[in-house]
Amino acid sequence: MSKSPYDVLVVGSGAAGLTAALTAASDGASVLMLTKGHAPDSSSWHAQGGIAGAIGDDDTAALHAVDTERAGRELCRSSAVRVLTEEGPERVHELMSMGVPFDPELNLEGGHSRRRVSSVNGAATGWAVTSLLGIRAAAMDSISTREATNVLGLWVADGRCLGALTPDGPIAARTTVLAMGGAAALWSRSTNPEGQIGDAIAIGFAAGAAVADLEFMQFHPTVLAGSRLLLTEALRGDGATLLDASGERFVEELAPRDEVSRAIVAIGGAFLDLRSMDRVRFPGLMAEIEKAGFDPATQPIPVSPAAHYTIGGIVTDLDGRTDLAGLYAAGECAATGVHGANRLASNSLLECLVFGRRAALAALGEAAAWTHRAAEAAPRLAQQLQAPTSPAVRVASPELCEQVWRQAGVIRDPALLAQLAASPDPVASLVARFALARLESRGVHYRIDAPTTNPAFEGHFVLRPGGDLTLEHWT
Ligand code: FAD
Ligand code: SIN
Repeated sequence: MSKSPYDVLVVGSGAAGLTAALTAASDGASVLMLTKGHAPDSSSWHAQGGIAGAIGDDDTAALHAVDTERAGRELCRSSAVRVLTEEGPERVHELMSMGVPFDPELNLEGGHSRRRVSSVNGAATGWAVTSLLGIRAAAMDSISTREATNVLGLWVADGRCLGALTPDGPIAARTTVLAMGGAAALWSRSTNPEGQIGDAIAIGFAAGAAVADLEFMQFHPTVLAGSRLLLTEALRGDGATLLDASGERFVEELAPRDEVSRAIVAIGGAFLDLRSMDRVRFPGLMAEIEKAGFDPATQPIPVSPAAHYTIGGIVTDLDGRTDLAGLYAAGECAATGVHGANRLASNSLLECLVFGRRAALAALGEAAAWTHRAAEAAPRLAQQLQAPTSPAVRVASPELCEQVWRQAGVIRDPALLAQLAASPDPVASLVARFALARLESRGVHYRIDAPTTNPAFEGHFVLRPGGDLTLEHWT
């Protein structure tokens, strides 16, 4: 155990973690960044279509906010949407000035009224951004990085988070920022890297933080059948069409994702026709499709939905603060309310940049105050530093993932959700409990027994450890 705490411990090295680490280190903090696997194990690394942000001449933050709220189905937290859309362009411009080689033309994706998605090589945005941020983090002396370090729990004493518990022992930190990504790999059909099984939700909730919106798992409609390979929405923005088994179009290709996903599930699968579009803009993705055995120039590609993005997570304010002192969350593992009931395409990388930065700045402020308090409370602190032992590693077996896919999929049956609620896995069980509580269909959450939206559920379900699910209104 390190007895001298880091100012900021960042868990996760995707876009949110890297942004938080770089922000904190640039302000002079000592930072340790931990990650379960290696760089390609984050969703950020695989992000394709790009980063939304109102940077076009015909665009404004207000228009971006309208599209975000429309996709979110009366559930977006408006203050968070304002922060995202107003601070977004500056974050995208920062990436440009760091040297991210964005394509000259902006992408168009579902639910956007303007071309506003900045991409690299059409669909290699995540790799380009995270590798550049990773290189910058590696060059900073004040950022230490430990890969292949599974965080198993949080170290909590006297009502505050003192760091994290790992198989190699506890790590002390004045403040801890969770940037651990989502839970979509808990579903057997998923776009996410295998480790993204919602560890942040499990350890955050176990440590005393509130969680919210866990019924909202976003399914991406166009994932290569039988694989994890995402076929970006930007392809549809550039003219790719969706066909049924008889070669007919059956859905508006750029409708919000939840609608397209349900339309595909209703017919049992679909084909993405790339034959007549300009495929040259997406060189890497075309190569991946060919590697998987399909020729995009001559044949429509079989696709179906897969679990993709976790809208819910650990409840935070607009500066990443959780219910637990010393603990922050940002990126996909946080529930700011910004996405409402359905995330607008490419708002997620932007969320990592905007809220990762804000969380780091807030954590820095608290770290400084903590140092002062700690000096006053040195004897008690020494006792707290007798750290607890680490909990067991959480694993998601293929059987569990198959069960989650069947019982909490695109179309949900309450009888199956009730079975999942009894799962010993904390995240699977929480998802089912939240989905059972939302007795309506809204955005990405669709129940066969309540297929319409009910204004009585216009709010966010929140659960605090030891409490009951409550519906809260976030402004
Ligand atoms: P991640 O990037 O997932 O990083 C999580 C980090 O936490 C990883 O480093 C992981 O190893 C670490 N971690 C997890 N558990 C533990 C643990 N127990 N201990 C230690 N470390 C742990 N969004 C967009 O906006 N635009 C896109 O074009 C886009 N395309 C996408 C394409 C794909 C294929 C996928 C999967 C997602 C895409 N998304 C896109 C969504 C977006 O990429 C993610 O929501 C976003 O990158 C999440 O970033 P993050 O930093 O919060 O988490
Ligand atoms: C995509 O490129 O289709 C994914 C974008 C996203 O998930 O935001």
